[in-house]
Amino acid sequence: MARKIVLTSGKGGVGKTTVCANLGINLAKLGFRVVIIDVDIGLNNLDVVMGIEDRVVFDITDVVMGKCRAKQALVQDKKVSSLYIMPSAHAYNKVNILGEHIKNVLSMLDASFDYILIDCPAGVEAGFHRAVFPANEALIVVTPHISSIRDANKVVNLLDEYNIESKGLIINRMRGDLLLDGQLLNIENIVKALNLPLLGVIPEDDEIGSSCSVGGRMQSGESARAFTLLSENIHNGSKKIFDCTYKYRGLMGYLRRNIKKRV
Ligand SMILES: Nc1ncnc2c1ncn2[C@@H]1O[C@H](COP(=O)(O)OP(=O)(O)OP(=O)(O)O)[C@@H](O)[C@H]1O
Ligand SMILES: [Mg+2]
Repeated sequence: MARKIVLTSGKGGVGKTTVCANLGINLAKLGFRVVIIDVDIGLNNLDVVMGIEDRVVFDITDVVMGKCRAKQALVQDKKVSSLYIMPSAHAYNKVNILGEHIKNVLSMLDASFDYILIDCPAGVEAGFHRAVFPANEALIVVTPHISSIRDANKVVNLLDEYNIESKGLIINRMRGDLLLDGQLLNIENIVKALNLPLLGVIPEDDEIGSSCSVGGRMQSGESARAFTLLSENIHNGSKKIFDCTYKYRGLMGYLRRNIKKRV
């Protein structure tokens, strides 16, 4: 049976899709069979981040409407063969897709995969319900900003109404230089505010979303290392958190921080 994990946040644009994609890649690289599912109907972008948009034949709404089987809507990743993507629909075509529908789709894939990662839309309305309803576990993605933490707190409370057995926290877009300068909420305070086990800290990385990465896929560098640690923590329960401040400590670090301030 697959672990069914939803990545959610409440607030938009904090990095759910980016984290979902990279977590999927890393879990698949560890040898697991992984599906990442986009349930952001009409505002899909997982297909773009994963670079598969020109290979999409069927999407999740076709599966729900019985036009194809769940496996026919999966697109295999070009680089990691045990990773599959189930894209969402490009347009909202008046089909009312409910959490129960998504749960049915997942049940068709359950026996063939180790992980099913569900990329949740922003907000706490119908799209949130659709994504959370079929999941057993939730990863709450935040950035080190009060507005993100506040929305995440609402989401954590809402999750109590669902069948979520475990929750974990991922802090995305952390900047080590600002953290050391006391300009960002620190990690302990974020963890305390949300009272969730910390599973990963992902640094702000200029290469994410730039032409150097394929979509938001990180193959090398600091954020790639942070995603590797995150996937190991999720898989085997280790508690290794990437230290975003290491290169800003000491004399060289002090110089780096000051250079960054001037750029
Ligand atoms: N660690 C990071 N460093 C730099 N940029 C990042 C990082 N994580 C995400 N981004 C960028 O932030 C933007 C939003 O990311 P993403 O689409 O993953 O967020 P989201 O939470 O899925 O948004 P939405 O709520 O709209 O679905 C993208 O441009 C992405 O490239
Ligand atoms: Mg998204």
